[in-house]
Amino acid sequence: MKEGARIEMACSTDSRTKGYRLASMIYDPVIERGMQPVRKKTLEISRLEPGDKVLDVCCGTGRQAEIFAETGADVCGVDLSDFMIDKARKKQRKSLTFIQADAAATGLDESSFDVASTGFSLHEVDEETRTGFLNEMARVTKPGGFLIFTDFSIQTRNGYKNRMRKGLAHSLEWLAGPEHYRNYMDWMRAGGLKGFLARKNLPVEKVFHMNGGHILIAKVMNSKSEATIAKF
Ligand SMILES: C[S@@+](CC[C@H](N)C(=O)[O-])C[C@H]1O[C@@H](n2cnc3c(N)ncnc32)[C@H](O)[C@@H]1O
Repeated sequence: MKEGARIEMACSTDSRTKGYRLASMIYDPVIERGMQPVRKKTLEISRLEPGDKVLDVCCGTGRQAEIFAETGADVCGVDLSDFMIDKARKKQRKSLTFIQADAAATGLDESSFDVASTGFSLHEVDEETRTGFLNEMARVTKPGGFLIFTDFSIQTRNGYKNRMRKGLAHSLEWLAGPEHYRNYMDWMRAGGLKGFLARKNLPVEKVFHMNGGHILIAKVMNSKSEATIAKF
């Protein structure tokens, strides 16, 4: 692809979310088509009940948040990209709201959610930013609540279909631009989501492996006591 096309795609109003203009346009009609099994598994592991307060961090166009809200949970999605949040706000449903904010500093109240979830956000950013997202998720979630992570991890079963899916994901990460791609490669070299959970010593309650392990969904207990919300 010509460099000009990659630069055109990297156009946004905030340098941290550059590249999301095109993504916001293709997400629902193209990417979401293949995401349904992951969305369902993320919902399943979350075990939400009506009235639960749920935060979807880096919610993108809001499809996972919408699926969470279908259970009767009270769901808030947060994303920094104006393009993404505009698309998300078109998904109108009772008890579903979206705010535009930095996931590392949402301004939301401490311990105000039962569950905080983030999907496919960590691999896209550098380690310091990932740690910021994690700290904020732990801060806004009640002690004893849950953190849900869905992201790329290390493939353990290498069948033909799984290799194809991994190749497609790899190509999309490259198309998203050089910084995005560098963060993705660093994430994968460091063991993907499995490596992140280990580095941060997170108490994992349950995991689902999908696509031969290339996608991992993990449920982590937010075990920090309110008085001592420690930094990871
Ligand atoms: C690949 S999309 C994932 C969207 C959605 N979670 C999903 O599962 O499809 C990553 C999202 O992270 C958002 N993002 C990146 N950096 C962010 C930040 N610092 N604060 C909030 N959102 C951010 C982007 O705008 C983008 O919508």
